[in-house]
Parts: sequence; structure tokens; C-alpha cells
Amino acid sequence: MVVVSGSNAQQVAEQLALALKWDHVQLEARRFPDTEGYIRIPEEQIEAIRKEPVVVVSNTFPDAGIVETLLMLKAISDVRKGSLENLRGIEPQRMENIGPGVYLAVPYFGYSRQDKRFKPGEVISARAIADMLATQCDGLTVLDLHAPQVLENLDIPVAFTSAMPELANHLQSEVKPDFILSPDKGAIDRASQVAQLIDCEFSYLEKTRIDAHTIIHKAKDLDVQGKVVAIVDDMIATGGTICRAADALRSQGATEVHAACSHGLFTGGAIRRLTQFVDGVHATGSLANPRSVIDAGEALARGVRELLNN
Ligand code: R5P
Repeated sequence: MVVVSGSNAQQVAEQLALALKWDHVQLEARRFPDTEGYIRIPEEQIEAIRKEPVVVVSNTFPDAGIVETLLMLKAISDVRKGSLENLRGIEPQRMENIGPGVYLAVPYFGYSRQDKRFKPGEVISARAIADMLATQCDGLTVLDLHAPQVLENLDIPVAFTSAMPELANHLQSEVKPDFILSPDKGAIDRASQVAQLIDCEFSYLEKTRIDAHTIIHKAKDLDVQGKVVAIVDDMIATGGTICRAADALRSQGATEVHAACSHGLFTGGAIRRLTQFVDGVHATGSLANPRSVIDAGEALARGVRELLNN
């Protein structure tokens, strides 16, 4: 079986292929001068793509990633159906349809945070993207999706997977935290799993988001005096959530504060801001980022195995 990638998730695709002990096939993925994307399955890879089930690894972030994902899935589905007709007359033009077997593994699912309709007329973006993807593949696995409920009853099987075991391993060997903090209620399940795996104390903060850049954390007494604390979240974007939480921890006596997440988006000077508040930032390579120190391959492999076994 093969793991296939385009331009936005090559490294994590290689890690997944290694974890599954499958081959990795890199598609030709480039941009026209007007920025539109182009995808081609190299002729020498057509046999590999048709032989057995295929797992496409692609992020739906940034926006161009959505289009690239859809184009890759369509190119693969055409080849598997045997639709090779081409104007250059390169043979064969048609082959036998080998049926289903195209799975999509999304390390970072862009648009996942718009998972509810807060006002009439809003689009539930996460669902809209997933519905589009579901028309082009036979199963989907997503790494640390912000709110998995949004994909309930999708038209194809979905396997949710998480890099929290890998985060826990990494923190245990590199940071040795005494305390794990979830910066808001939404991250409680993930962060408490890390605390359980490390076997250390755990608590959470109550966060109110005023806008994309303004966050208020409800004051809460935390027993962190003299302790090494790791804040665990699914993603870090502007870093605002982590900086406010780190502030609360320092003011209550934490001696060392680290931030760990699956998805390191680090937008708009986030790394610079974070380094003023925390002693270390640790992320997986779900998407390319300057703090990618945790391999997400095995976590994605668990999702792929679940899909294939079901
Ligand atoms: C939101 O609920 C997420 O889990 C993260 O806490 C949030 O997206 C992080 O964003 P930022 O780094 O901009 O505060």
C-alpha cells in the first residue's frame, strides 16, 4: 500500500509511511504563475496507485490546501477508475476500474474551529469542508480535530486519532512536568489524557474569548508553587491563550512553564510573543512549523489502521 502526498504535508506523510512500513509516493504539485495549483500522478507511479488501497496525506490549511486535497483525490480516483484519456495520446488511455480504496489522512484540519452556527446565516465551515472531501474518498482520518462532533454522520467512515500519547512521551523525557494545565474547558480531555499518561497533577482554566486577539482567564487557585507546568492544547495560533495561561501560572509560583500542542499554526509573531511567556514550545509536525519536535506519524498510523480494520 502507498502513502501519497502533495505539497503541504510531505514530511508527515513520510513519517506516516515509515510508521506503516508502506511506500511513500510524492505527486507532482506545483503552482501556475497566477497561483492556481496543478497536480499530476507521475506515470511511473500509476501502477502503485492502482495496486492497493491508497492513503492521501494532506492538510486543509492554508486555503490552497483544500483545493490541493480535492485535486489529489480526484486525480487518484480517475487513475483507479482507469480514466487515463489524454490529449498527448500516451497509452494506455483506459484501464479496468479497480474500485474503491482511497483514504484521506488529514494531519491539520483547517477551518475546524468554525464548528457551530453562532448566528443565523453562518456557515459551519468545518462541516462544509468535510462534506466536500467525503465526496472524493472512501474514508477519513483526522489528527486531533478541534471538535470531533462536527463530523458526526458524515457520508464516509471517520477515524479520529490523537497525538496526545506522543506529546506525553515527549514532555516526560524532555520537560518532566509536575503539573499539566488545560488552558480552557475545550482542551480538558486531551490535556487530562497527557496528565494521566505522565501520572502527574492536572487542572484547567476557564477562558472567555472576547475576539481573535483578546482572551480573559477566570482567576483560579492552582497548586503550582515551585512546579514545572506544561500547558497542553490542540493548537496554538496567535499564542494568546497560552500567554494568558502562562501569566496566571507564573503569578501563582510556577517555576517553569512549557506549551505543547498538536498543531503549531504560530500566526502573526506568535513564537516571539510565546518566548516572552514560556520556557519551551513543543508541537508535532502536523503542519510545517518552527517548533515541530514531535513525530505525528504513529498517531496518524493509528487512525489509518482503524479505518482499514473497519
Ligand atoms: C480554541 O479553543 C483552541 O483550542 C485554542 O485554544 C485556540 O485556538 C488557540 O488560539 P490562540 O493561540 O490564538 O489563542
